[in-house]
Amino acid sequence: MRKTILLLLLLLSNISIMYLSASQLQNKINLMPYPSSVEMGNGKFRINKEFSVQVNNVSHRLEGVSNRFLMRLSNRTGLFLNNPFIFVNDSITEVDFIINAAERAELELGILESYELVINSNEIRLTSQTDIGAIRGIETLLQLVQSDAEGYYFPNLKIVDSPRFVWRGLLIDVCRHFMPIDVIKRNIDAMAAVKLNVLHLHLSEDQGFRVESLIYPKLHELGSDGFYYTQNQIREIVNYAAERGIRVVPEFDVPGHATAIITAYPELASLPGEYEIERNWGVFDPTLNPIKDETYIFLHNLFSEMAELFPDDYFHIGGDENNGKQWDANPEIQEFMKSNNIKDNHGLQAYFNNKLLVILENLDKKMVGWDEIFSPEMPTNIVIQSWRGKEAMVEAAKKGYKTILSNGYYIDLIQPTDFHYLNDPLPDDIDLTKEEKKYVLGGEATMWAEMISPETIDSRIWPRTAAIAERFWSPQKYNNIEWMYERLEVISLQLEEHGLTHIKNIDMMLRRMTGNHNIQPLKILLSVIEPVKIYKRNQLRKQTQQTPLTRIVDAATPDAESARKFRSLVDRYLKGRSSEIRNVLISMLESWKTNHIKLISIIENSPILYEVKPLSENLFNVSKIGLEILEMVDKNQSPNDVWLANVKSNLELAEQPVAQTELMIVSAIGKLLNIIY
Ligand code: ACM
Repeated sequence: MRKTILLLLLLLSNISIMYLSASQLQNKINLMPYPSSVEMGNGKFRINKEFSVQVNNVSHRLEGVSNRFLMRLSNRTGLFLNNPFIFVNDSITEVDFIINAAERAELELGILESYELVINSNEIRLTSQTDIGAIRGIETLLQLVQSDAEGYYFPNLKIVDSPRFVWRGLLIDVCRHFMPIDVIKRNIDAMAAVKLNVLHLHLSEDQGFRVESLIYPKLHELGSDGFYYTQNQIREIVNYAAERGIRVVPEFDVPGHATAIITAYPELASLPGEYEIERNWGVFDPTLNPIKDETYIFLHNLFSEMAELFPDDYFHIGGDENNGKQWDANPEIQEFMKSNNIKDNHGLQAYFNNKLLVILENLDKKMVGWDEIFSPEMPTNIVIQSWRGKEAMVEAAKKGYKTILSNGYYIDLIQPTDFHYLNDPLPDDIDLTKEEKKYVLGGEATMWAEMISPETIDSRIWPRTAAIAERFWSPQKYNNIEWMYERLEVISLQLEEHGLTHIKNIDMMLRRMTGNHNIQPLKILLSVIEPVKIYKRNQLRKQTQQTPLTRIVDAATPDAESARKFRSLVDRYLKGRSSEIRNVLISMLESWKTNHIKLISIIENSPILYEVKPLSENLFNVSKIGLEILEMVDKNQSPNDVWLANVKSNLELAEQPVAQTELMIVSAIGKLLNIIY
């Protein structure tokens, strides 16, 4: 069995190499985001235990990153370095790696992040204007560690690099499910590794308020179930991010998505009542009362307190999905609208937002909000984060608002990496002038947390977000999907060095399900299934905040690897009918078909896996069909009607979600069927 798997892996890797262009083969360096310019040289810089680093600069931050660079290099290579710490501004002779950064940058939007990295056989030089540029370049160098029969090395090359967009973010929702500080820190490290520069923390929601407030302590006491960050923890997160050149933008979502705030302070609601933290998913009614002075006093005090904790210039007020029901039902609010000539709820929200804008401007903060805050009544010095569609982004940019694109980067929806990767914020055909395009600051991946726990969050963010990071950083022209996936496989492994659990937790979760070490058959099944996409999961089985996220659907990941490779091989087979590819397809189908019997005996002893049985049956049936088709192709046979009817009903069945997951090879089997039918 092991031999078959080895053979399979060998064939798969040879096949992917066959499809690389000559220039890619030559430059087989696994950088992500790929730099603006890479010139390959010929030699190699050999890494040995004498390796030394000198930093000529200015910034404590760069010194920290450089020392951690040495630690990571030492861990990666197993080399016991003679100089495990950097030399600072100290001209030692024969230094190997020299980092020159001219100035320390204030961490704010639009700072210079460009760098130049030159690797010769006897020296490496990293040069940048700012310490942040050098920090980005250090991450590039770490991705370049390679090995051959003589040891580890960096390939000779020259890289000149700078970002395409200035706002390259990741939103983490810590409200639907709370994420402890360690989760946030390891994700900050991973963000830095792929040159993301904004962590957007979604801190207030219907399901929780997640920051300690000294002014309004009921917020965390009554609105969080005890799951919140202390103010010291917030400072720790902000500092940790800043040390890696990452800004932290806080979001306090108002006036909707405010059930947790209203649970703590019901007098702020638009309708009287007793409120409780929301446990379900969706859009809910509780909304702050926009006509009460108390609301603005509260928001003034709260935002003042929070502005101290979050030093960034930008402050996010949410503003999305206010369903207006409480406003419609409150006669005083209706009367207020009439007497102030406010036409509708959108106008009332603009009134509310303008009051918030005054508060924020007094705190020296710039307002960011979701699409819904866009209104002719708002000045253009606010930033619009577009989540509902690119059209909203275009419209905002045309009117002179700065915008951030999140539509197309909703990683909670479990879409494949290539979908996000090909979602360019500014595609060639976008209806914006050169001037208007400047209003598009960049983009943000959004990790909404309805269906994730601290155990699974990393596998939803990574590795897909590395490809999104490339979209935000790299030139638009890099859009070859095969090449992206190939680099992503390597980067995904490197990301583990930050303590990310996107790979290792899967085995742990499977062991918990089986209650023992025998998880291989389950892993084989897992490699061809994915969680259902978009918002289907909640439709198939009602989920709440208390639903355990420990079933097969939670261990399954987007971009099931074997399935993706199988689909790609089928496409190639259809083009050339290569017998080499056919043999790989047969081995894959055989291994899936024979998996069923092994898995059944595991399932029988694990009640949490009972739901998987029909899925495994489907995989068995579909694989068997695939093998039969390939045999018919070989023998030039046509199918008979009975077989065909049976196959079609089996494929239809296998397309249906089971255990909130989908079998990702069915479409490819359908394509094979088209050969003979
Ligand atoms: C959002 O997804 N409601 C911003």
